[in-house]
Amino acid sequence: MNSDSDNEGLVWQTGIWDKISDVYQEEVDHRFVPVVDGVIGRAQIKAGDHVLDLGTGTGSVALRLASVLGDEGRVVGHDISQDMLRIATQKANELHLTNIEFQEGRAESIPAEDSSFDVVLASLSLMYVIDRGTAAREIGRVLRTGGRFVAAVWAAANECDIVLFQQTAGGFAPPPPVPGVGPGAMADPSEFIGQLLTSGIQAQVEGQLLSFEFDDFESAWDVLAGVTTASLAPDIQEQAKNAVRNLMWNDAAGPRSFQNNTQFIVGRAQ
Ligand SMILES: C[S@@+](CC[C@H](N)C(=O)[O-])C[C@H]1O[C@@H](n2cnc3c(N)ncnc32)[C@H](O)[C@@H]1O
Repeated sequence: MNSDSDNEGLVWQTGIWDKISDVYQEEVDHRFVPVVDGVIGRAQIKAGDHVLDLGTGTGSVALRLASVLGDEGRVVGHDISQDMLRIATQKANELHLTNIEFQEGRAESIPAEDSSFDVVLASLSLMYVIDRGTAAREIGRVLRTGGRFVAAVWAAANECDIVLFQQTAGGFAPPPPVPGVGPGAMADPSEFIGQLLTSGIQAQVEGQLLSFEFDDFESAWDVLAGVTTASLAPDIQEQAKNAVRNLMWNDAAGPRSFQNNTQFIVGRAQ
């Protein structure tokens, strides 16, 4: 990929996450708690560990860890979105946490020294990384020998309702300026597992079915597709809504449970 298209992709990507940050905090964070639990539960965190939370968003993984790491430990949350980082920092300040830090950082060029982390975590962020091969190299570089790596990524649309919803809605929007990014982009994580291995991290995938609910179709639409379809012409937006509703919602005024096969990539630096 040339640097112009990489830059265009990054600007596009950052713009979406900035716009969605408030909705994410209010409507997404509590629904993704089981995913965060799954990442943290697999990471074997110990007091004193130095942890990197890559694509931290509103900081849900990092904030949960800060209290178990103790005075000797620390957690750093990196993200490309300033608005996500602002929310995460505000939460850390409100909790008076002193062993946590949020800073701008991109998975493809992690602003940290070699072997500086015991643990690297990436909860639902790798699917949006434009150059995952470079990100795998960077994770391998900053993780110390014996260090742990845990990521969560969604499975394919036929096993994961959130991906079905967002891919169906996204089919009505212009394609992203870069290929290979989006909620289902790591449905087959084997290429990334190979890239991790080249970077010295041996990893395997553990699937787990996790769920969340919405009270009705409109509220799910606003949260899961509101930002990405906002710039569509009203008639196209209506077509997109109808397509998702017909596919996924029997009674638009009633609730629906989303069943999401969640793939946890669990690895160790050799
Ligand atoms: C779905 S959110 C996940 C947030 C949080 N980890 C969670 O589990 O709720 C994806 C996050 O990845 C970030 N992101 C996307 N591409 C990134 C990249 N190349 N490097 C770092 N973060 C990135 C986005 O800005 C966004 O905050």
